[in-house]
Amino acid sequence: MSEPDHYSDEFWEKFARFYNLATKFYLLPFGGEGSFRNEIIKFGQPKAGEQILDVCCGTGTLTMRIAEKVGQQAGVTGIDTSQEMIRIATKKAVKKKLSIKFELASGKSLPFLDNYFDRSFVSLCLHELPNDLRIKVLQEIQRVLKINGYLVVIDFNLSQKLLPRLMIKMFVKFIEKEVAYNFLLKELLGTEIAELGFKLVDKKLILLDMFQLLLFQKS
Ligand SMILES: C[S@@+](CC[C@H](N)C(=O)[O-])C[C@H]1O[C@@H](n2cnc3c(N)ncnc32)[C@H](O)[C@@H]1O
Repeated sequence: MSEPDHYSDEFWEKFARFYNLATKFYLLPFGGEGSFRNEIIKFGQPKAGEQILDVCCGTGTLTMRIAEKVGQQAGVTGIDTSQEMIRIATKKAVKKKLSIKFELASGKSLPFLDNYFDRSFVSLCLHELPNDLRIKVLQEIQRVLKINGYLVVIDFNLSQKLLPRLMIKMFVKFIEKEVAYNFLLKELLGTEIAELGFKLVDKKLILLDMFQLLLFQKS
């Protein structure tokens, strides 16, 4: 039997140098990357003075938006398994004079103490992870978050409206890999996270309901 088709570390390592440009194009049909990231910041409400973790940060575009929003008093950290993603993220942050710690680490074993962060973001990543890895990453986020800390999740949504439903299905089917398409069809995201002991406190559907923003609190 062949291995399940999912995104490998090697894939991200090779793709990293195209990621900024690719994301711009990728998000064009959804109104552009700028407004997409703004929606996330508005919804996720990172605050000055908080310790904030961006898991699977990629080239750090969202991490930098977070740092810009909260100013220098907050401790903003981004982690990713791709060395090249971390290199590019670090370079971008230095250029913008933003104080962000970017670290090479896997979401499945976060190199941080229990109950350390006030808020964590996971953007455009959970749909790519095989089931067991996704659960492990979510458990790790829960471990490093403080009690009552917040988890902000950004991912695809299978809209109930006919046309957007068809559009997001087509988009994920042809642009993403099979693991992402299967995850979208199962509509498991919200319930799965809630089952791990997080309480859903807010939800917003954006871009014709094709993306969901979820705000959970660690109880
Ligand atoms: C689609 S990108 C999302 C990047 C970024 N969050 C964004 O919003 O643009 C997915 C990222 O997840 C990273 N990744 C995949 N598996 C990971 C894991 N187990 N731990 C940490 N990062 C991971 C990849 O290297 C890649 O940079």
